Amino acid sequence: MRALLILLFWVSFVTEANEVTVKSPNKQLSLTFTDTNNIAQYRIDFEGKPVLGEGKLGFTFAEAAPMYRDFTVKEVSRNSVDNTWAQPWGEQTLIRDHHNELLVQFVSETDSQNTFLVRARVFDDGVGFRYEVPSQDKRVITRELTEFNFVDSHKATAYWIPAHGRERYEYLYRTTPLQEVYKAHTPFTVKYDNGVHVAIHEAALVDYAGMSLDKQELGRFSAALAPRHDGSLVHKNGPFTTPWRTVTIGDKATDLVNSYIALNLNEPNKLGDVSWIEPGKYVGIWWGMHIDDFTWGSGDKHGATTENTLRYMDFAAEHGFDGVLVEGWNIGWDGDWIANSELFSFTQSYPDFDLEKVTQYGKEKGVKLIGHHETSGGITNYEAQMEEGFALYQKVGVSQIKTGYVAHGQNLKVRDDNNLMRYEFTDSQRVVNHFIHNVKTAAKYQLSINTHESVKDTGLRRTYPNWISRESARGQEYNSGWAAPNPPEHIPMLAFTRMLAGPMDFTPGIFNFDYIRKNDGGVEWGKSNVMRPQTTIAKQLAQYVVLYSPIQMATDLPKNYEAKPDAFQFIKDVPTDWSESIALQGEVGDFIVMARKARAHKGYSADDWFVGAITDENAIDLTIPLDFLDKDKKYEAQIYVDGKDAHWETNPYALTIEHKKVTTTDTLSLHLAASGGAAVRFKALP
Ligand code: NOJ
Ligand code: CA
Repeated sequence: MRALLILLFWVSFVTEANEVTVKSPNKQLSLTFTDTNNIAQYRIDFEGKPVLGEGKLGFTFAEAAPMYRDFTVKEVSRNSVDNTWAQPWGEQTLIRDHHNELLVQFVSETDSQNTFLVRARVFDDGVGFRYEVPSQDKRVITRELTEFNFVDSHKATAYWIPAHGRERYEYLYRTTPLQEVYKAHTPFTVKYDNGVHVAIHEAALVDYAGMSLDKQELGRFSAALAPRHDGSLVHKNGPFTTPWRTVTIGDKATDLVNSYIALNLNEPNKLGDVSWIEPGKYVGIWWGMHIDDFTWGSGDKHGATTENTLRYMDFAAEHGFDGVLVEGWNIGWDGDWIANSELFSFTQSYPDFDLEKVTQYGKEKGVKLIGHHETSGGITNYEAQMEEGFALYQKVGVSQIKTGYVAHGQNLKVRDDNNLMRYEFTDSQRVVNHFIHNVKTAAKYQLSINTHESVKDTGLRRTYPNWISRESARGQEYNSGWAAPNPPEHIPMLAFTRMLAGPMDFTPGIFNFDYIRKNDGGVEWGKSNVMRPQTTIAKQLAQYVVLYSPIQMATDLPKNYEAKPDAFQFIKDVPTDWSESIALQGEVGDFIVMARKARAHKGYSADDWFVGAITDENAIDLTIPLDFLDKDKKYEAQIYVDGKDAHWETNPYALTIEHKKVTTTDTLSLHLAASGGAAVRFKALP
């Protein structure tokens, strides 16, 4: 009798769990909210099988009652959307937003006032959900309980960088069994043995802390929010929503690249007319500093002189570049500039740099100066001068600024109301808000911002299209000799991880690999200790197509381009704004083939297509059907591919340039060398 009662009790307890499900438009993906065991939870199924098993939802707070146990779920509303919207610039003009939405409410069983909502949007290629907390109080979040519970975690491989470290997002990607990941940044990419690929990330990170993933048990991760300087996570006053937690899912690696769910989950453009935002290509007084030919600070080797800038402007004008970046133009670089962030001025030039003269010269030549604001993490110092700095740049005709926050990832410097220095993470709520404040303020001066050492991209370029690019990963600068270079797999790794977040100012295009600097020692090493870009020259060209950014740098010194005019032609011909982009082939960390169609801008023909193909340390033979080309057109394929016996280590310069006529029914065969690549322009014929 007693056993029967226990059984009956157990059965009623189990059957009491409520479930609410929403499916993708094609019904292959579903998200279910449940209150199994009286805990707020969700799970995700793909093609009839669970991918994320039940994982918690909720929060704990410093004072308010936790949103943790004893919650029940109920449906509030549903909606379906099928819209197409246009990007002012981008990797694709038209973006389709096709999803089913479900809003659910979780209510505490002991206190009906203690309640939160979760809004979910399920697309064919992924899911986004966010919290909507109706509370009127002040709240200090001490934990966000969201979990990502990978089913069959022993059958999965993860591609990831560690979170909350001193180099921010600038780590080499690790490839490990999923079960060996401990604390990872997002986008976090996972591949199952059966080919299913999953990427966890977030969208619309605004007034909140960045989310990383913290291992709880095998396969189960919870949200780890970057703490504020005082150890608490997020402060809120009144009702709030969180960023969207996103899960992109596909049958193959390229599905992750071809997905736009994060952009769809961001709010539309809030800046109104954005015709002043200009995609384009630039050169700069930059690589010279990284390879030690120039210095940022004053002295004999000062790079940012009027004379050097005029020379770079001549070069830019001659070869059709839009801008010249000049770093080291302003007071503050002398001495230990990383430690002296409060000495940076954003208005005062060094005496050998004449801002008026170079910008005036640029106007005559049709070339813009690209501004530079290095803060070395001094947020308060920068915020105090930001408007003045922007006003000055706007006055002289600058329209784009590269910003920098070189400081260890936990050491961004913010003075509090008592003038005490507080140290913040790159992705803490305070710093997240700083970046958005920076971009919004810049918009008032019609300036676009390219943030280096930035918080990760979460699709905010849709809302603030002047946030034109950012770094947030190991870029080309790591190949200059001051650190272990990026290994051959780095680009095909970025393509399926970092690049899922949005544009990257990687700065491609190194043509001279023979400057090998001494090994500074002590840094983490790549797979080889050759202190230079571990690529072929064709791979440098292919990066312009593979690594999307609306602004691209031709990074090397002018003399190195002048020495190789044939290869340079591709950089001159490649656009940076596209009407269509397709990841055609690839495997995470192994290789990638991207096709993109040009948008009509600055004289580029909207009929031309481009292909970029890149491999890791393994040579590869690719067969690429050209069925993406327009059906009714003939093209001249201008092919830049690794030459005979090319190899990144022994023969990086071997390059074959070949022109041939093709149509959509042809197939292109390409042999890529070890750490090699291919860049192809399909020039539409009249
Ligand atoms: C780090 C940036 O990523 C790099 O491009 C720049 O040259 C230095 N900061 C100095 O501002
Ligand atoms: Ca950097």
